[in-house]
Amino acid sequence: MNKMTVRDVDLKGKRVIIRVDFNVPLDGERITDDIRIRAAVPTIKYVIEHGASRVILMSHLGRPAGTGFEKEFSLAPAAKRLAELLGQPVTLLSDCVGEAVRKEAGAAPAKVILLENLRFHKEEEKNDPVFAKELASLADIYVNDAFGTAHRAHASTAGLAAYLPAVSGFLIEKEIEYLGKAINDPERPFVVILGGKKVSDKILLIENLLKKADTILIGGGMAYTFLKARGINIGNSKLEKDRIGLAAEILAKAKAAGVRIEMTEDFVIVPNFDSDDARISDVIPDGFESLDIGPKTRAKFKTILSGARTVIWNGPLGVFERAAFENGTKEIALHLASLKDKGVKTIIGGGDSAAAVSKFGLDDKMTHISTGGGAALEYLEGKELPGITALNDKKKASGCCCGCR
Ligand code: 3PG
Repeated sequence: MNKMTVRDVDLKGKRVIIRVDFNVPLDGERITDDIRIRAAVPTIKYVIEHGASRVILMSHLGRPAGTGFEKEFSLAPAAKRLAELLGQPVTLLSDCVGEAVRKEAGAAPAKVILLENLRFHKEEEKNDPVFAKELASLADIYVNDAFGTAHRAHASTAGLAAYLPAVSGFLIEKEIEYLGKAINDPERPFVVILGGKKVSDKILLIENLLKKADTILIGGGMAYTFLKARGINIGNSKLEKDRIGLAAEILAKAKAAGVRIEMTEDFVIVPNFDSDDARISDVIPDGFESLDIGPKTRAKFKTILSGARTVIWNGPLGVFERAAFENGTKEIALHLASLKDKGVKTIIGGGDSAAAVSKFGLDDKMTHISTGGGAALEYLEGKELPGITALNDKKKASGCCCGCR
């Protein structure tokens, strides 16, 4: 990555403001998956250990109205979990901007402070320059480590970089290293597993992959529109009617580009979506729908994956949240875990696929699990991420007056 990182600036005695992505799933006040908080810890620890006088963290959580404090979107659970992970106190402030916050920030007993949810102010998502400047006034150096939000051009992810020396943290650096290498310079064969609910969510990704991948394996809800495009009966399975033509075009383009596409060829079918009366079938009869890939498809996918050197996985292969339809996603996840030990790079593209890997307890068994859902998708589509573009370039560092080393 051609951007400055926390390693490139002198942190000693400085107030450092770090944009983290603590947008974590909550059940009441209980965090159900803290991977994003754990992923922010290395940068926070580094900044503390390198002598920062104050560490000011900021994040959004959910999508509040932007008209002030709402308890259900408070970052209090994240502050508590972070203090446990750091083994030191974290003071949560009452807001993120304003006179009171400036006072609280100055007087806080803890070295590490967390501003309250940025999205309690609509100016955050509007990338309002006055709001960004106010955030900047709290610190001397700006670090962005919120990979999950790097696709948003908001005040805290992009605007703030105009007012302070702006560098990346280790999480963004790591995400770009793994995702960037896999998509731009993969060791071949390069196989991509695509799943998830909709073709329409993945069009740009597929277009980009047709230029890069050797083989694409398609499962999950999106497969049925492709199967329909091939003239296969899909019963009542999920179909995006208006995308059948596009699916046919993609299949033709893949053929012309020499990219092998393999799809679901047997199914786990039910009479209706709410039923758990699952049976395995080579066809989807009228009146049935398929909610998972069948055993033959799993075996075929595993054989192809065994020949890969790089694998990117984006989107689950069935309704893995329900035990009756988790087996396709689970078998493929377990297989990827075994391939990692053989030196295959296994990259999980965030969002639902990351949740699936986590559900099966395989978090530590993959080469990299992205903390970004939308951000990982946009990066893999080949788009620039505004939160990264806004940071200082490495080459501009020499001779600059911002406190760079
Ligand atoms: C995410 O969960 O994808 C990020 O935190 C961004 O959240 P958003 O989609 O609400 O901007």
